[in-house]
Amino acid sequence: MNILVTGGAGFIGSHTLIELYKAGHTALVVDNLYNAKAEALHRVEEILNSQFSTLNSQFSTLNSQFSIPFVQADIRDREALENIFRQNEKIVNGQVVNGFDACIHFAGLKAVGESVAKPLEYYENNMNGTFVLLDVLRRHGCKNIIFSSSATVYGDPNEIPITENCPKGQCTNPYGQTKSMLEQVLTDVQKADNEWNVVLLRYFNPIGAHPSGRIGENPNGIPNNLMPYITQVAVGKREKLGVFGNDYPTHDGTGVRDYIHVVDLARAHVAALQAIERKQGLAVYNIGTGHGYSVLDVVKAFERVNKVPIPYAIMPRRAGDIATCYCNPKKAELELGWKAQFDLDDMCRDSWNWQRNNPNGY
Ligand code: NAD
Ligand code: UD1
Repeated sequence: MNILVTGGAGFIGSHTLIELYKAGHTALVVDNLYNAKAEALHRVEEILNSQFSTLNSQFSTLNSQFSIPFVQADIRDREALENIFRQNEKIVNGQVVNGFDACIHFAGLKAVGESVAKPLEYYENNMNGTFVLLDVLRRHGCKNIIFSSSATVYGDPNEIPITENCPKGQCTNPYGQTKSMLEQVLTDVQKADNEWNVVLLRYFNPIGAHPSGRIGENPNGIPNNLMPYITQVAVGKREKLGVFGNDYPTHDGTGVRDYIHVVDLARAHVAALQAIERKQGLAVYNIGTGHGYSVLDVVKAFERVNKVPIPYAIMPRRAGDIATCYCNPKKAELELGWKAQFDLDDMCRDSWNWQRNNPNGY
């Protein structure tokens, strides 16, 4: 398939490009580089060139020949999106047809704390960006989309492990609200026109990095999420980790989450294309490992695997946090044949490999 990948220069998008090309797909990236660097795409090309140098495929036998089509544009820019579609049309049996088989839609703002401080910017970017994108997709007859949703849509979940049947809950911040509302928008769009195939992937907690250490997560400023904070402590950029609460009803009192290796998550997108090929209409999948680890479990695993001490201090709970969140990922396994392959040790090893080789990111 030829895939339009919005936000493809970001953390999850860059890893997904590798898995798409490895599976024989092609992609065009549209990203405004608000939270990413073009260097990430160069490194994706470098990884693909090195992995495929012996294959007689779209990849060259000489390094750095292969390049991923990339347009630096904002998805709210309708004219830019229209141009991308116009420039990628194909002629089939004398007819002009749309050149994209599906869209994987990663583009969005994702910092929870910032979304509380700048709700208008978050609603405007995430909602309006998706509205413009959907309209352009529809106009060009590309009615297949995989959307990056989040476990945050479950709020404080009714059941653990969380299945896709668990009702959505109350999101505590504008970022989460945009995910929940966009799920509804996509559901309604599919309901109104059954030519659409919509796959909502609810990611649990993506961490890790490509095993090459060439691409990974590159947060701006002080990291909000656990693993980037740990790796910055490990590399000496931060003094110690603050553990947000040790009085939760969990095995050691710290918050429990379902961490998933970003390469597994990337592969889930390739697997999700099957739901589109089968014309499944609307499909929702939890994408996690099904295992819950506490903050201290992650700290201990990181120290053991990487032999680096992580000093930490217990702090008050963080507003909006819940005690426990992990999923039942069986539906994705049964319907898509997708199952996470990497464990917490792999995630800790690859997160550190990325950070240690790229202490200042890209
Ligand atoms: P990221 O910030 O690394 O990637 C998002 C990309 O979108 C960035 O490259 C950014 O420059 C681009 N972008 C943002 N707004 C844009 C716009 N208007 N036009 C064009 N490009 C735009 O984030 P990520 O971690 O790779 O997340 C990808 C998606 O997955 C996001 O939608 C995010 O909300 C969602 N998600 C992420 C997590 C996580 O923990 N990382 C968890 C659940 C869901
Ligand atoms: C957070 C967001 C969620 C978003 C997800 C991925 C909140 C309330 N939720 O999820 O909406 O989809 O990131 O971007 O922000 N922790 C510490 N110290 C730290 C950082 C985190 O102890 O410095 C703890 C947290 O309290 C939590 C666990 O580590 O128990 C994981 O936190 P984090 O990585 O931020 O992910 P979530 O809170 O699950």
